[in-house]
Amino acid sequence: MSPFPVTLSRHILEEGQRRADIAGELSTLIAQLGFTAKTLAREMRRAALIGELGLVGEKNATGDAQKKLDVYSNETVVDAFSATGLVAAIASEELEEIQHIKCKGEGRYVLCTDPLDGSSNTDINGALGTIFGFYRRKKRDCDATPDEVLRPGSELVLAGYVLYSTSTMLVYTAGHGVHGFTLDADIGEFLLSHRDMRCPKRGKSFSANVGHVRDWPQGIQDYVGYVTQIDKASGRPYSHRYSGALVGDVHRILLEGGIYFYPQDSGHKDGKLRLVYECAPLGFVAEQAGGSATSNGERVMDLAPKAVHHRCPLAIGSAEDVALFDRFIAGKGAPPSD
Ligand code: AHG
Ligand code: MN
Ligand code: MN
Repeated sequence: MSPFPVTLSRHILEEGQRRADIAGELSTLIAQLGFTAKTLAREMRRAALIGELGLVGEKNATGDAQKKLDVYSNETVVDAFSATGLVAAIASEELEEIQHIKCKGEGRYVLCTDPLDGSSNTDINGALGTIFGFYRRKKRDCDATPDEVLRPGSELVLAGYVLYSTSTMLVYTAGHGVHGFTLDADIGEFLLSHRDMRCPKRGKSFSANVGHVRDWPQGIQDYVGYVTQIDKASGRPYSHRYSGALVGDVHRILLEGGIYFYPQDSGHKDGKLRLVYECAPLGFVAEQAGGSATSNGERVMDLAPKAVHHRCPLAIGSAEDVALFDRFIAGKGAPPSD
């Protein structure tokens, strides 16, 4: 890396000069994401030493056992974005209802967030994430109505994730490609490490909880059968990679190609993942990187959420892999050329 790397602040400044829509408010939100990510990364690094691992003993809004870090992450994200004066409402995995923020300014945005993704990984020092998506409101007051939050992903203006792993990364899109920053913990700065991330058209791995394979629709069982067949010419068998954290799995796929899917099964009749704060923001990132995201064959970004915690099946990753997966769902199988 160059001795004068591009910091997140310099990147925001330069993007703001290039693109009118990034100047001003969006820049403030991206800068606050950087600060929030650093705060959360610090807590995660030391969680085992300060009694921050383990369960709180409560269930969250969607019935998952809440970890101490789920609660900390939610409070940190809510406080950080309330403080900007730009956010009128927050929809979070950890909040039953949309939280309205007493905004100082005009509250031009709503935030949808999974403050801590992959919480089953907290106690094993595994990869974790934070997902965020912002919608711009049409009104200029502090009273955001549910329809201003429950919008299709295609209306997102800013989305991305933070990945807490070997290093901490902040990856975002504001509709002009996808940019990735790695935290240099010694100087406390996010530095541009992945400019204009592009997801390869096709990959060599699939990511899913295959423990459920016999519980999946026949088309998906057939797809797993197909990608695990041996055929050197078409790059099969695929490798199987699954970390238990959507952010970590999607990040790998964005860089190396492949597919992540979480279908419906008997325990998750509508799928497990949540449209508003998991699937749509990551769908925006995937599409901006040249990949795609679908839900039972429909474009995720076109889905209108029916509720804050609306769940849906998800397939996300390389455009050709997702298209092939959708062919199998539709009962068509692989094209003759494949
Ligand atoms: P969260 O920790 O925010 O509830 O999300 C967990 C999600 C996702 O990160 C992961 O891919 C998936 O659930 C794992 O589910 P299984 O344990 O059922 O495989
Ligand atoms: Mn999650
Ligand atoms: Mn979560």
